[in-house]
Amino acid sequence: MNKNEVIKILADWNFWDKDLETGIDRDSYINRLINLLATEFIVVITGARRSGKSFLMRQVAKRLINSGVHKNEILIINFEDPRFTKLDTKLLQEIYEVYLEFFNPKRKPYIFLDEIQEVEAWEKWVRTTRELQKAHIIISGSNAKLLSRELSSLLTGMHLDLTVYPLSFEEYLFFNNLRLKDNLDLINKQTEIKGLLRKYIEFGSFPEVVLREEKKDILLRYYEDILNKDLIKRFRIRKPDALKNLAKYYLTNISNLVTFNSIERYLDISADTIEKFSTYFEDAYIFSFLKRFSFKIKEQDKSPKKVYCLDTGLANTIGFRFSENSGKSMENIVFLKLRGEMLKSPQLKIFYWKDQHHREVDFVLKEGLKVEQLIQVCWNASDEKAKNREIRALIKAMNEFGLNEGLVITEDYTFEEKVDDKTIKFLPLWQWLLSNE
Ligand SMILES: Nc1ncnc2c1ncn2[C@@H]1O[C@H](COP(=O)(O)OP(=O)(O)O)[C@@H](O)[C@H]1O
Ligand SMILES: [Mg+2]
Repeated sequence: MNKNEVIKILADWNFWDKDLETGIDRDSYINRLINLLATEFIVVITGARRSGKSFLMRQVAKRLINSGVHKNEILIINFEDPRFTKLDTKLLQEIYEVYLEFFNPKRKPYIFLDEIQEVEAWEKWVRTTRELQKAHIIISGSNAKLLSRELSSLLTGMHLDLTVYPLSFEEYLFFNNLRLKDNLDLINKQTEIKGLLRKYIEFGSFPEVVLREEKKDILLRYYEDILNKDLIKRFRIRKPDALKNLAKYYLTNISNLVTFNSIERYLDISADTIEKFSTYFEDAYIFSFLKRFSFKIKEQDKSPKKVYCLDTGLANTIGFRFSENSGKSMENIVFLKLRGEMLKSPQLKIFYWKDQHHREVDFVLKEGLKVEQLIQVCWNASDEKAKNREIRALIKAMNEFGLNEGLVITEDYTFEEKVDDKTIKFLPLWQWLLSNE
């Protein structure tokens, strides 16, 4: 490619001669990223396609500019730009040299390499540039295993990671112009919050889906892209229909127990293939699998798993109708929030619990060696029979773990119930999502 051509492509993705759209600031991510950058490590951003990685990079670039970095000291390269042909380290070096020649930055530049996995053997270039202390480097990719291939050992100990997810409920309210100042505000704006929660669950929280009207169309497009680009193409899947059927199966079964063997019979795909595809799904962030609590690792691995989706909007658009399954969607939302907590405290692990009498508790939170909390999700707390079943299971598990308190998350029911020496707290989902424990 000639130099002018390269600069022309780059200029479209940079702040050099114009302002780029940066959308709504996601402060918690921006701040974390800025802190990571200060360490001088390579910063690695991963997360599902369309969760907002590129926008986050722009927002960080913009913050840097606002804090005094010259706009020419920032280089953003978008490797998804189809005008770049043959993505390899040669191109990377070429781009870098053209950039230096045009701008001759006085200080160490910030280089954002967006969707880097598209570039063959990129790790070598990144390592060398980092070792020579030539630039601050931020890379992104849509796969959790961005850095797990053999070549990536080149970067061991040189990087810090950040995962970007679709919006949390707090961010969602912010994107909908609902700003909460204090707890009183929370009470005053209850009706509005509850209305928004319904939409949050139904359509999920991909930023673009939240901000636009054609929600279902966008979700369908995302789903096709994740399947075709992040899975079928990336892993060179030879049976794309099998993979699609499995994805659809999981979407219609969110918050349910699944075993690879039972799916094998149902979908006519071998259990090995199902297991392999399921790891791909996890790496592309679209599904997560929750293990059963047990002190024995082997039993954890052998037991059925619960499946959850990255975004309840996807499940409600492709899997089933929201109205038929709001309880399942709600449990999925609780899972997503707990997973966010896990990122903040690496000691925290979550499981579900089930005993031999088929009593179940939705979430067991274990911190280090100790079980700290049990959470039951019960959409329909006004249904006495369902409620009692949930409570009985909860109490059984509380006894087993020596806990005196249990939590039931409900649609809209607040209460505290004493059973012998134990306390069961009922808390509406919106309140739980917005409490910062
Ligand atoms: N912070 C944000 N504010 C407004 N819109 C956003 C924001 N983040 C993402 N979007 C919207 O979502 C789309 C996908 O985000 P993007 O950053 O391109 O995702 P990714 O790079 O993870 O695939 C964007 O084109 C934009 O429409
Ligand atoms: Mg992107």
